[in-house]
Amino acid sequence: MWIQFGLLVLFSLFNSVSARLGSAPFLSGGNLVKRDSNPYGVIRGVNLGGWLLTEEWITPSLYTDDAADEWHLCEELGKKKCLSSLESHWKSFFTRDDFEDIKAAGLNSVRIPIGYWAVDVLETEPYVSGQYPYLIQAVNWASELGLSVLIDLHGAPGSQNGQDNSGLIGNTSFYSNTSNIDRTLNVLKNFTEEFTQDIYGDTVIGIELLNEPRLSDTFTMANLKDFYSEASEVIRGVNGNINITMHDAFWGPQYWANYNPLPNTTEASTGNYTIDTHQYYAFEPLNNLPHDIILEKVCNISKILKLTNQGILPTIVGEWSLETGHSPNSTSSSLQNKNDNSQEKRTWFRLFFESQLAAYQPNSNDQPSIGWYYWTWKTDYDIDTWSYRRGLAQGYIPSDVSNSSTLAFPILDNGCVDSTFNYTAPRNPGSKGSRHSPDWILGIFVFCLSLISFAI
Ligand SMILES: *[C@@H]1O[C@H](CO)[C@@H](O)[C@H](O)[C@H]1NC(C)=O
Ligand SMILES: *[C@@H]1O[C@H](CO)[C@@H](O)[C@H](O)[C@H]1NC(C)=O
Ligand SMILES: *[C@@H]1O[C@H](CO)[C@@H](O)[C@H](O)[C@H]1NC(C)=O
Ligand SMILES: *[C@@H]1O[C@H](CO)[C@@H](O)[C@H](O)[C@H]1NC(C)=O
Ligand SMILES: *[C@@H]1O[C@H](CO)[C@@H](O)[C@H](O)[C@H]1NC(C)=O
Ligand SMILES: *[C@@H]1O[C@H](CO)[C@@H](O)[C@H](O)[C@H]1NC(C)=O
Ligand SMILES: *[C@@H]1O[C@H](CO)[C@@H](O)[C@H](O)[C@H]1NC(C)=O
Ligand SMILES: *[C@@H]1O[C@H](CO)[C@@H](O)[C@H](O)[C@H]1NC(C)=O
Ligand SMILES: *[C@@H]1O[C@H](CO)[C@@H](O)[C@H](O)[C@H]1NC(C)=O
Ligand SMILES: *[C@@H]1O[C@H](CO)[C@@H](O)[C@H](O)[C@H]1NC(C)=O
Repeated sequence: MWIQFGLLVLFSLFNSVSARLGSAPFLSGGNLVKRDSNPYGVIRGVNLGGWLLTEEWITPSLYTDDAADEWHLCEELGKKKCLSSLESHWKSFFTRDDFEDIKAAGLNSVRIPIGYWAVDVLETEPYVSGQYPYLIQAVNWASELGLSVLIDLHGAPGSQNGQDNSGLIGNTSFYSNTSNIDRTLNVLKNFTEEFTQDIYGDTVIGIELLNEPRLSDTFTMANLKDFYSEASEVIRGVNGNINITMHDAFWGPQYWANYNPLPNTTEASTGNYTIDTHQYYAFEPLNNLPHDIILEKVCNISKILKLTNQGILPTIVGEWSLETGHSPNSTSSSLQNKNDNSQEKRTWFRLFFESQLAAYQPNSNDQPSIGWYYWTWKTDYDIDTWSYRRGLAQGYIPSDVSNSSTLAFPILDNGCVDSTFNYTAPRNPGSKGSRHSPDWILGIFVFCLSLISFAI
């Protein structure tokens, strides 16, 4: 009787101490559990970067010395050689096994970047097409495994940002030629017609109109909004339900509050528009920041994504990573350092990952936040700060991101992680993570047990 009572007391003590320390496995409720309650299902996804639209830094093995983007790669190889090189890449870089691994990691969605030339390429453009059957295959695999898909137009004719990720480094000529716009609208129409067919189920949950448009004097915000309106009209002309995802052009989700690309069309005026915002600490001017500033910024964006009643549209963080620039004491994405698996680095990665995880998903279902896609699932050399699967293998990304019990850090009431929590990554990469607390709690527990047995 006394022993039972004693054990009960001890067990409650144990639970309350673990609760204070955020040891979710022993709790039945609390913050860590609550954030899974969005009725739409929080999107937890990865990008399939560098696959159907290649980027040199993701697959350097595919690239020759002189080319830095897919346009120039194919220009150099010629269409015939480029097609055979890309065919073998499309066939092998992502297979069904990757989709199974993605599923097993607790992820439920993939964002698939693709260029316009998969649908429409001119003889005068060096690009080759042949990606489309792989896109269909990907949607079918996703469908079989219960993953959803966001199709993302990552490269538009003329380039919408002049960067390698658009396929063509240099000018941002997308908006300066109406033929570019018309061709883009046709590509978006094709995606909509194709993937809203019954044979795909409801696997494709959205179409992103244009990735990372870079605004300027010749491509203004007004121009972009005109394009978003035209594109929405084309898509809604085909389908009334599919989510239309609009990149925020780096202006932040608040700028787009109450935005409606089709204000004059009553039946489509209510919704299924989402905003995509990318959150990186890898690039100017946000690179090389001290870690505490980064964590504060992550918590700041978390608060915006959780603001209710301010007209912020449902918002996805469609790209984020663990890269923070190249300062000596932070991490490096350089290939020379690919074997640097220091414990200190993995400890920081885990904290940075979980901070962003907490920030980019909702903890109640009236918030604009609807989830995230990490950039990216893999790279040729599985760069530590960019490859999700490397993070999984080395344990600095939780093994099942849908299961809050696998997380290390407790969440504070403001929705951000408690970055003061004393977590250290295991000495060896890939072994199971450790919270320090359970060890000494267990110690106290055993000590008290021995006291009790002594007393009786
Ligand atoms: C960019 O556009 C300018 C003016 O249209 C042109 O002269 C230049 O060659 C273009 N640059 C590239 C890299 O295409
Ligand atoms: C616009 O782009 C098309 C190809 O998409 C090209 O044929 C045409 O010459 C371009 N027009 C101008 C004015 O650059
Ligand atoms: C979309 O474009 C692809 C590639 O050209 C083509 O195979 C497919 O049939 C098109 N789908 C629709 C619905 O037009
Ligand atoms: C949004 O899409 C859902 C299906 O995904 C549909 O039930 C709903 O009617 C759509 N809403 C609007 C406003 O089109
Ligand atoms: C909506 O209608 C107003 C008034 O006719 C017009 O000024 C505006 O350009 C229209 N907006 C769009 C996106 O078509
Ligand atoms: C689709 O859009 C609606 C309303 O804009 C949003 O609430 C929902 O979360 C979106 N679903 C997905 C899967 O993006
Ligand atoms: C976070 O937001 C607060 C309030 O807007 C601001 O004062 C602070 O400077 C922000 N922190 C960082 C690191 O940007
Ligand atoms: C890196 O760490 C060393 C040792 O802690 C320190 O002396 C140095 O100033 C740091 N460098 C930067 C750029 O933070
Ligand atoms: C969640 O993770 C915990 C701790 O690893 C494990 O015991 C539990 O079985 C997992 N739950 C599910 C539903 O996978
Ligand atoms: C964190 O835990 C480790 C291992 O138990 C311990 O050595 C270290 O002193 C703790 N640090 C703090 C700040 O409590």
